[in-house]
Amino acid sequence: MKIVAFNGSPRGAAGNTHIMVENFLAGASKAGAETENILLVDKKIGHCRGCMNCWLKTPGKCVIQDDMEKLLEKFSADIIVLATPLYVDNVTGIMKDFLDRTIPRLEPFIERDENGECRHPVRTGRTPEFIVISNCGFTGMEHFQVLKLLFRRIARNTGTSILAEIYRDGGSILGNPMPVLKPFLTRYNRLLQKASEELVKDGRISDRTEEKLKNPIVPPEQYLKSANKYFAAELQKLKKEE
Ligand SMILES: Cc1cc2nc3c(=O)[nH]c(=O)nc-3n(C[C@H](O)[C@H](O)[C@H](O)COP(=O)(O)O)c2cc1C
Repeated sequence: MKIVAFNGSPRGAAGNTHIMVENFLAGASKAGAETENILLVDKKIGHCRGCMNCWLKTPGKCVIQDDMEKLLEKFSADIIVLATPLYVDNVTGIMKDFLDRTIPRLEPFIERDENGECRHPVRTGRTPEFIVISNCGFTGMEHFQVLKLLFRRIARNTGTSILAEIYRDGGSILGNPMPVLKPFLTRYNRLLQKASEELVKDGRISDRTEEKLKNPIVPPEQYLKSANKYFAAELQKLKKEE
């Protein structure tokens, strides 16, 4: 089984999303999957120009010469992980550019799916199943509402399904080096590894692991208090420097 992850965080390997993806892929790899972790920020990905050449003049091929052609080849994997931090209730601009540039995978014709909804056929006839990984700065799972719907729609549009979704609220804590947090973060990282091990071995994440993954890493009120304390201290430092 081949799993390829695309991470749309501008912070790349220094980001919280990266910590989630790395742990998830580590578990999958331990369970026998072949994995690849791609940081989109390190790739050259231009905005889609909407020229339609990939549909009409050079079917399946974009006019922009950048890293996207090679990245589209990765859609031969069994599973792709779409990973992004939440930015303004949505995916990052990097992830959106990447998603827009997957359009050459589709034919221009419009067909109806089994529910009568329109979509374009996929040239290769298949899209890998999706796993969605995201984290956000606020506490509360409601912040992922837009993302959940967005990826569900993209899966439908491309004739695939979502195998698993892992959303981490209060995720700004993931890369925090404070020793007091270490046991809590280690426990969460192990859960991510367990989730992917289950997924590779059993084809799904168990209900128990899914539930555990949703538990707050630290109590939400404590998280918010620490975050506000941190911001106040940083702003105070700035004032002193002036
Ligand atoms: C431009 C910007 C917009 C953001 N928008 C939201 C948001 O709408 N809701 C939220 O909870 N967090 C938001 N965040 C916080 C990030 O989701 C959070 O810091 C996350 O841990 C970043 O992940 P990364 O380190 O992988 O980039 C935003 C951060 C930035 C920089």
